[in-house]
Amino acid sequence: MPSSKIEIHHLIDMKRRGEKISMLTAYDYPSARILDEAGIDCLLVGDSAANVVLGYPDTLPVSMDELVILTRAVSRGAKRSFVIGDMPFMSYNISVSDAIRNAGRFLKEGRANAIKLEGGGAVADTVRALVQAGIPVVGHLGLTPQTAGMIGGLKVQGRTAEQAAKILEDAKRLEEAGAFMLVLEAIPKRVAALISSRVSIPVIGIGAGCDCDGQVLVLHDMLGINAGFKPKFVKRFAQLEQEILDAARRYHEEVRAQTFPAEEHSFTIDDEQYRHIESVLGTSSKAKSNGGNGRSKHRSTSRVPVAN
Ligand code: KIV
Repeated sequence: MPSSKIEIHHLIDMKRRGEKISMLTAYDYPSARILDEAGIDCLLVGDSAANVVLGYPDTLPVSMDELVILTRAVSRGAKRSFVIGDMPFMSYNISVSDAIRNAGRFLKEGRANAIKLEGGGAVADTVRALVQAGIPVVGHLGLTPQTAGMIGGLKVQGRTAEQAAKILEDAKRLEEAGAFMLVLEAIPKRVAALISSRVSIPVIGIGAGCDCDGQVLVLHDMLGINAGFKPKFVKRFAQLEQEILDAARRYHEEVRAQTFPAEEHSFTIDDEQYRHIESVLGTSSKAKSNGGNGRSKHRSTSRVPVAN
């Protein structure tokens, strides 16, 4: 893989060489920076942002404006990783011109490298039009959360011959329409392996077993920041929710006990200068009990480290 920016042809070459592609979701600049440094090949600004970082009950309410802002932040942090913006519900379903306008925003404003959308044959013409407009497209088949109501809920797909054949047919139609990559969600491992072997574009699995051409997980799920949410296909690589909880509790206790900030976190002033300040400002204080530390309630908004 290149040490410079990953491009579509690198991802396609990886499939040809049998080299697995790593993808994670990302929704902000610091996460993108860290995942980029870790060598993750693709960052997906998923519409899962709706539940994961914006607190909506499902993915349907998230808007183009919300996802474009998150995508722009992720793109700033991704020097090498390939960035994919996820088309929210109803941003590509009403008309092809709407789809092109909205997808174009991910590239122009969000600085994404490609977009993803859900659906099979029904969106093939939209995919073709997007590709003709110069917008690289990733398809998404199997469990498609935006239309979960139509496919019987958030359930494993492709367990019957009829369903598996339909997913394979959709995969081929998306490939033929010009999609350069597919995401397969919640599909039995052997069915996903079969589909991956029948298309020439990379297939990225989530809950689709290890024989796909790559894997994607929702960042907060794999970091353990999503209390109580652990579908079968998620592996927790960290337990950050507990770490954040412990850190916040310790901070709260130290603030109340006045053990934070300590001397090493405080700025100093020499005695002569301080006596001068007292002579100008006076020594009496209106505050009942501030410990006489003279600290202002207002802090600098600068994030540049401040020297002594
Ligand atoms: O929105 C998302 O995070 C996704 C992944 C689950 C593939 O679509």
